[in-house]
Amino acid sequence: MTKLLLIASGSIGVLHLSSYVAAAKQEGWDVRCVMTAATRIVPPSTVAAFCPVYAEDNAGELRVAHIELAGWASAVAVIPATANMLAKIAAGIGDNLATTTLLAVRIAVAVFPNMESTMWTNPIVQRNVESIRSFGYQVWSKPRTMYSVGRGAYEEGIGIPIPMQFIEFMAELNQEDKAKPEDR
Ligand SMILES: Cc1cc2nc3c(=O)[nH]c(=O)nc-3n(C[C@H](O)[C@H](O)[C@H](O)COP(=O)(O)O)c2cc1C
Repeated sequence: MTKLLLIASGSIGVLHLSSYVAAAKQEGWDVRCVMTAATRIVPPSTVAAFCPVYAEDNAGELRVAHIELAGWASAVAVIPATANMLAKIAAGIGDNLATTTLLAVRIAVAVFPNMESTMWTNPIVQRNVESIRSFGYQVWSKPRTMYSVGRGAYEEGIGIPIPMQFIEFMAELNQEDKAKPEDR
C-alpha cells in the first residue's frame, strides 16, 4: 500500500489540502500530514478529520518524529510549497519538523510550488528550484490562473494541480522510484 506523506507549507493553496488527502484515501493510500506555518491558514484540526496530522506542537507524540515519519513514507509530496520552503530545501535547512523530515527522506520527493508570478519569477526562487531539481526532486511548475490574495484578483501564477492530477503524478513517481535499485 502507498504510504503518502504530505508536507504542507504556508501558502494559500493549503486551503485545498484536505482534497488531496481525500483523493489519496479514495485510492486506498495511507496518508499522514506534516504542517508548518500552514497551520496559521488552515487549522490542523480540520485536516485531522481526514488523516493524522503532525505540527510542531504535537510532534513529540512520535519518539523521533522526523526519522519515524521519513521511514514510514513510501511517497512524499511537499504540497503546497512556499517560496520559503523551496529556499529551505535548496539550502538543506532543517529547522522544523517538516524540513528535518525532508532531510531524513531517502525516496523521491515531489514538490508543488504555489505562489504569485512575481515571487515565482524572482531569480532567487528560480535558482532554488534549479538547485532542488539537481538533487533529484520532481518539481511541478505549471502556470495556472489562481486567486491572488495579495492583489485581490485572479491572475496567472504557479499553482498546485487538481487532486486527480496530483494522484496521477504521485502514482507515476512511485512506480519510477520502485524501479530504481536500492542504492539510496
Ligand atoms: C494568507 C497567506 C497566504 C500566503 N500565501 C503564500 C503563497 O501562496 N506562497 C508563498 O510562497 N507564501 C505565501 N505566504 C507566506 C508564507 O506563509 C510565509 O512565507 C511563511 O513564513 C512560510 O512558512 P513555511 O514555508 O514554513 O510554511 C502566505 C501568507 C499568508 C498569511
